[in-house]
Amino acid sequence: MSKPSPNDRIAVLRAELERHNRLYYIDATPEISDHQYDQKMADLMALEQAHPELDRPDSPSHKVGGAPIDGFATIPHRLPMLSIDNTYDPTQVREFDVRLRKLVPLTVIEYAVEPKIDGVAISLTYENGVFTRGLTRGDGDKGDDVTANLRTVRDLPLRLMCDSPPALVEVRGEIYMRRDDFAKLNNERQAEGLEKFANPRNSTAGSLKLLDPAQCSKRRLRLFVYGFGTLEGIDFVTHMEALEQFGKWGLPVNSHIRLATGIDEVLALISEWDERRASLHYDTDGLVIKLNDLASRQKAGFTSKSPRWTVAYKFAAEQAVTLLKSIDIQVGKTGALTPVANLEPVQLSGTTVSRASLHNADFIAEKDIRVGDMVVVEKAGEIIPYISRAEHERRTGTEMPFVFPTACPVCGSVVARDVDGAVWRCQGRECVAVLKRRLRAFGARAAMDVEGLGEEMVEQLVDSGLVKHLPDLYRLRAEQLEALDRMGETSARNLLAGVEASKGRGLARLLAGLGIRHVGETVAEVLAGAFCDLATLMAADEGALSSVEGIGPERAASLAAWLRDTDNQKILQDFQDLGLKVSAEGPKRAPVGAMAGKTFVVTGTLQRFDRLGIERIIKDLGGKVSGSVSKKTDFVLAGENAGSKLEKAQQLGVRVISEAEFVDLAGL
Ligand code: IVH
Repeated sequence: MSKPSPNDRIAVLRAELERHNRLYYIDATPEISDHQYDQKMADLMALEQAHPELDRPDSPSHKVGGAPIDGFATIPHRLPMLSIDNTYDPTQVREFDVRLRKLVPLTVIEYAVEPKIDGVAISLTYENGVFTRGLTRGDGDKGDDVTANLRTVRDLPLRLMCDSPPALVEVRGEIYMRRDDFAKLNNERQAEGLEKFANPRNSTAGSLKLLDPAQCSKRRLRLFVYGFGTLEGIDFVTHMEALEQFGKWGLPVNSHIRLATGIDEVLALISEWDERRASLHYDTDGLVIKLNDLASRQKAGFTSKSPRWTVAYKFAAEQAVTLLKSIDIQVGKTGALTPVANLEPVQLSGTTVSRASLHNADFIAEKDIRVGDMVVVEKAGEIIPYISRAEHERRTGTEMPFVFPTACPVCGSVVARDVDGAVWRCQGRECVAVLKRRLRAFGARAAMDVEGLGEEMVEQLVDSGLVKHLPDLYRLRAEQLEALDRMGETSARNLLAGVEASKGRGLARLLAGLGIRHVGETVAEVLAGAFCDLATLMAADEGALSSVEGIGPERAASLAAWLRDTDNQKILQDFQDLGLKVSAEGPKRAPVGAMAGKTFVVTGTLQRFDRLGIERIIKDLGGKVSGSVSKKTDFVLAGENAGSKLEKAQQLGVRVISEAEFVDLAGL
């Protein structure tokens, strides 16, 4: 048999990858591991690179992002993207139904009731079944061409699954980010010293505007489709029929969309959803109610800005209005000055909020937020409260504009603005606030994991002057600690034992703990893997750093600058002299026993371990941790309130173990 041609091999790989994409993102029943998927993708990309003439815009390889682009062209929509009227209570929804029944000859109307996804509206063009263009809503008449970024959205099919596709289909939908992916993104950003996004919608909008699709690909954006614009070569009678067809083509349609007969059924769904939405993986801000029959939609027509056949019901917002009493400046471990609002305590979705983030100096200036203002507090993806705006109309004239400090409020050093962002940083070398944050970060579990180095201890060590630089931690003596006020013998002993134990963590975790901008846990591992020991890393210049895969020019520059700094060099030298392990691997236990080579999925709440801790134990024992259950999973470790992953494991016959069984198995 002759060897298959590159063309054939490419075709097979594309078909396989498309299938696995669908299984993973749409059906949620993956059949292969992430690693196997990546391998196939790498094979395809290598073949496409060797045979550029065989590249096609709908190849799944575009999911990992093509070349960076210069900007976004503004392009008119074939049909305008209108907005919808909002309603806020059941009476207004009934009024909508009464109005509509006067316009269409139906006594009882069938409505589609859909979750209103809190993301970014998008219009996608498929020509002869191939995805050719995607535009943001823009001003409704014309939007930005974000095609290159949209190609990286994992559940957006680059080709419709259909033998004879219509000439033109324009689908409308929403790009969004799941709450768990949003939290992950923000954790990564925090670890790397980058500013956090306020909520999943903002991070979705920001991601779509990235100029580098490869970066966008990492943001784990997703899609729901819920409507259409221009159609050629196909027609639908009802909205639900259109959605069903979209689903068959492989487009993701929200599974919670229901057909209601008459407005009473709509109202019943509304009251059900007010609570249910909390259990979704993504944010919703209401329900959209749409006339199902498309011919009747024509009869209903439009106002100047919105169709008369649809209305949005907005959930009571998770917002509260309260007094902004004062603004504090917090100094972070990278010296970043963050304004934090002190509020008159207020109830917000079940908790009392008295402090909230004000993001940065630009935000305060742009929104003209003053001390003494009544401000609107919101919860971002139900995580951290933040202030969204001030109610300017309620001003009395006594409000005071906030003057952002020009000196660090803690050490008095000058502050300077990042060249590449809105963040102001303390430039002081000896800032106590920075040192405290650094010490906390250094001792954190993901870094050097120093037991006994809690917040209180850090305060004491720094305030007493015992620790002026990170290496001083390793110079502490029992009698010094015991001489401190409020310091018990046990805490002193614990700390010293914790400090001693941390010496052997290895280069990656040491680097992760240093609070270098753009160097979080993952990047630290990459660096340690590439340079193996501290001396080699210290000798590396910007070129050598940026030649490492995963270290872009921005990171390389910031890291090189950090390494060139003589104070930092002294710190690193001190660590080495004080006996810390500065070579690559940490002390791993030999991978023996029941965990070696096994794949684990952890789900639900555990009693004894947090996520990071359990993952580290599994890895230390030679096992792997995966985020999703498939036939390849060896164990699902299920804690309390385990949900869909547990169900999936049971369906697939994967072995489920309790926390106690895990402890036994691991010999802990
Ligand atoms: S229908 C003309 N359906 O809500 C009607 N919109 O203010 C077109 N949205 O801009 C929109 N989920 O970004 C529709 N299931 C859904 C939706 C939805 C979210 C957004 C969309 C639109 C805004 C309406």
